[in-house]
Amino acid sequence: MADTYDLTSLRDRLDRVASLDASALEAEEIAVLGRKQGELNARLKALGSIPIEQRREAGASLNTLKGEFEAAFAARREVLRAASRDAARSAIDPTMPGRAAWVGSRHPVTEVIDEIVEIFRSLGFTVALGPEVENEELNFHALNFPPDHPAMDMHDTLYLDQGRDAPAERLLLRTHTSPVQIRVMRGGPPPYRVVIPGMVYRNDPFDPSHAPAFSQIEGLAVDRGITFVDLKATLTHFARRFLGADTRVRFRPSFFPFTEPSAEMDVGCLLCGGEGCSACKGTGWMEILGCGMVHEQVLKGCDLDPEEWTGWAFGMGPQRIAMLRYGVPDIRLLYSGDMRFLSQFGRLA
Ligand code: DAH
Repeated sequence: MADTYDLTSLRDRLDRVASLDASALEAEEIAVLGRKQGELNARLKALGSIPIEQRREAGASLNTLKGEFEAAFAARREVLRAASRDAARSAIDPTMPGRAAWVGSRHPVTEVIDEIVEIFRSLGFTVALGPEVENEELNFHALNFPPDHPAMDMHDTLYLDQGRDAPAERLLLRTHTSPVQIRVMRGGPPPYRVVIPGMVYRNDPFDPSHAPAFSQIEGLAVDRGITFVDLKATLTHFARRFLGADTRVRFRPSFFPFTEPSAEMDVGCLLCGGEGCSACKGTGWMEILGCGMVHEQVLKGCDLDPEEWTGWAFGMGPQRIAMLRYGVPDIRLLYSGDMRFLSQFGRLA
């Protein structure tokens, strides 16, 4: 029978408190100090059954022991808490360099489009937009393409429903932004000065210089008394604003069904400055756009009298221009989303 005033076993337990882990500590605290089942209370209650002359001293010892247990539990709890704090801290290495977050920048093609549009806006042009799902009438016929033009072949054009009889009902993905010229001219009276950015589609697989979807920027200026001089002056001004004041330009005769006369504008090679390099195939020149005077047939088809109204138009490809400007060898890089490529164009949005 545990002797009420032999405190040896309790003293042993007191000594062991300092080595208990967290859950054993909790259990031991209840076992020793618990109000109902606790060892100390049981001993205090049992004091009544020991000889009166020993009772006083035993009671004092038990109370002292109780205080010592309380202190020992509190001290052990604190040690365990500090240890677990240290463990958590050592899982973090404050000397490691921080991880740099990606900083977004605008896509080089977006940059080119916005710069070009902005230059024309500063000249009084407004932005016009048209649908990417267009009909054959506006994409081809109203632009004076002859009915058997090879561009209308399924090999080049992505038709959505070729079965219909009327060209105006045959839907396709527009192959250029030129049909928006027709929409503008049929949409209200001249004068017009518009730039038309947008996506166009062709039945081409991806290769280094082709993409099945790409963007264009179209331009159209129609007014009384507009001549080829306006075309050359405006596009030359544009090239020098966009590429630098000393940019050389030249116009070469060309052909488009919807312009007469037609031309292509070249600029001095952006990479070699005209010396001749692989990018300009040794010529020192790069073609950056097609242009011309709006064809009489096109004006007439929009109910505009060619005796009263004349105009000029242009079309260019922002992906192509971005490739020339930045020396990008493969158009697919512009579609890749590859951060190793894109992060070189670091301008912030
Ligand atoms: N639509 C032509 C194309 O996709 C580009 C073009 C050339 C547009 C001359 C024009 C222009 O407005 O005048 O190849």
